Amino acid sequence: MNLAVEMAGLRLKNPVLTASGTFGYGVEFAAYGDLTALGGIVVKGLSWEPRKGNPMPRVAETPCGMLNAIGLQNIGVHRFVEEKLPLLPWAEVPVIANLYACDVTDFARLGEYLAEQEGVAALEVNISCPNVQAGGILFGQDPEQAARVTRAVKDRAGTKPVIVKLSPNVTDITTVAKAAADGGADILALINTLSGMAVDVRSRRPRLANVIGGLSGPAIKPVGLRCVYQVSRAVDLPIIGLGGIASAEDVLEYILVGAWAVQIGTANFLRPDMAFRIAADLPGLLDELGVTSWGEFRGALRA
Ligand SMILES: Cc1cc2nc3c(=O)[nH]c(=O)nc-3n(C[C@H](O)[C@H](O)[C@H](O)COP(=O)(O)O)c2cc1C
Repeated sequence: MNLAVEMAGLRLKNPVLTASGTFGYGVEFAAYGDLTALGGIVVKGLSWEPRKGNPMPRVAETPCGMLNAIGLQNIGVHRFVEEKLPLLPWAEVPVIANLYACDVTDFARLGEYLAEQEGVAALEVNISCPNVQAGGILFGQDPEQAARVTRAVKDRAGTKPVIVKLSPNVTDITTVAKAAADGGADILALINTLSGMAVDVRSRRPRLANVIGGLSGPAIKPVGLRCVYQVSRAVDLPIIGLGGIASAEDVLEYILVGAWAVQIGTANFLRPDMAFRIAADLPGLLDELGVTSWGEFRGALRA
């Protein structure tokens, strides 16, 4: 079957993308597979200024997932555009920039600068930073602020699609999804990590220097599926699903509950060629299941 997906003007040759923060700037993974065989590459979260990230240790393994508190370490948006973007095959595979800022003005200038870059196909807005001016609540936990950030980026994105990436750390994810839609989002991506922690009884210390971090990997797949299922029924926008995907079957689970495309995250750390393998495995599994089009399969869960 034809694996291509088109959503909000974004053309993907297949629905398998990589998740921000788990695939470097893309370039590092070229040794493990053909980048142009992917549906898209979402790069590490970019901020206006470079960021050193949080103190070590900032990663911990848990029984079926990983905890991280990297703290958005990155080289800054200018170095990304000058040094990394030209090395990516952006003419053949959409490169999506993931934006991270802690105030609306910063989000706006980041969005404007990245949207002007020919090699950037779309912007993905990570709204999981606390807004200090608003008492430290995360942008993504307050529907009004989520809408404001989305609008600020959308107004400066020109023709480039704006993807808003939602956090599961809320009581009702559909409320924030609707707010992002009201703010002008073209596509929603969900989920980001779940807030968690790990402790060591011997040292009596937390395993992360930051104490609290984000849980990802197989442990969160049921949460991701639930969120995509709920949001796809509440909001009329294409959805990119993610959380714990590690096989072609996992991809189809997300599409069955309503996702248009997916991102592979923590699984890239398990095997650096994981995203390539999953993309290569998809056609065989679709054949086996007798699926002939995405339109027929997407959201077709018999619930
Ligand atoms: C080490 C690490 C770094 C991450 N950095 C970012 C980031 O910069 N921006 C972002 O939106 N999400 C970031 N994420 C979240 C992932 O993109 C993804 O939403 C999450 O890990 C859930 O998917 P998974 O279970 O497949 O990993 C990061 C996750 C990990 C594990």
